[in-house]
Amino acid sequence: MAFETLIVETEDDIALIRLNRPEALNALNSTLLDELSKALTEADRNDKIRCIVLTGSEKAFAAGADIKEMSQKSFVEVYNEDLFGAKIEAIQRVRKPIIAAVSGYALGGGCELAMICDFIIAAENAKFGQPEVNLGVVAGIGGTQRLTRFVGKAKAMDMNLTGRFMDAAEAERAGLVSRVVPTPKLLPEAMAAARKIAEKSQVTVKAVKESVNRAYETTLREGLLFERRTFHSMFATEDQKEGMAAFLEKREAQFRDR
Ligand code: HXC
Repeated sequence: MAFETLIVETEDDIALIRLNRPEALNALNSTLLDELSKALTEADRNDKIRCIVLTGSEKAFAAGADIKEMSQKSFVEVYNEDLFGAKIEAIQRVRKPIIAAVSGYALGGGCELAMICDFIIAAENAKFGQPEVNLGVVAGIGGTQRLTRFVGKAKAMDMNLTGRFMDAAEAERAGLVSRVVPTPKLLPEAMAAARKIAEKSQVTVKAVKESVNRAYETTLREGLLFERRTFHSMFATEDQKEGMAAFLEKREAQFRDR
């Protein structure tokens, strides 16, 4: 599929999706969000793809929602079109793991998009922020919600109220990103992580994603029950038998995704 605002490549069983609107620092306009939800849905459906990496350019992962496109909209327009709602929900429905490889600016909707991914690997030059307050709006796709769960109230309030940017080191300390790597190593590191994930049983990988995400959606007691039942259900898979047999026989597991 050819896209106007994305470059989509596959390397073995990894889909690499690059946001590609360099003239606007990858600002998320409606075409980009449409294309991104299509590309991700397509990768999710494609049996040959086992993990997805989402990235931008060295200067910007994404500098936010496209300010030019939305500046003149009325409340009724954004309400009726449920601005960002449906397109973002399509991204949230993806069941395969998505790694965000963030270099440069991840601001506003860009930071929020990175947080929708399953984890973030940041380049040393990454800058995260929720500067919507400077534009007279609040964050719209998780900047006050996901960010608060990731980094706690103090930093989330600070970022959303002052609009200041967080560098990669602070983002790692705060728990927003899983690792920070030298900028030129960002993509190799993200692709290596994706390849590690791709080696596992895809049934187990989906179950891990569902279980960790459940921690954000429910109480601890319900989450622990969900996790335990999911753990029990893994014993119905051939890959559980294979994984444990391989350990006992001191060999590599040959998972068959069933
Ligand atoms: C539209 C944008 C843009 C954006 C940058 N550009 N961010 N266009 N929407 N969010 C455009 C600029 O207008 C400029 O185009 C070109 O990209 C290069 O940007 P510069 O500002 O010249 O670059 P620089 O001086 O390096 O500054 C980089 C920057 C700054 C600090 C990232 O561009 C910036 O502050 N951008 C806005 C960040 C922001 O407020 N994001 C939140 C958006 S609201 P021209 O044509 O002039 O060369 C949001 C709501 C989320 O995200 C709701 C849910 C999605």
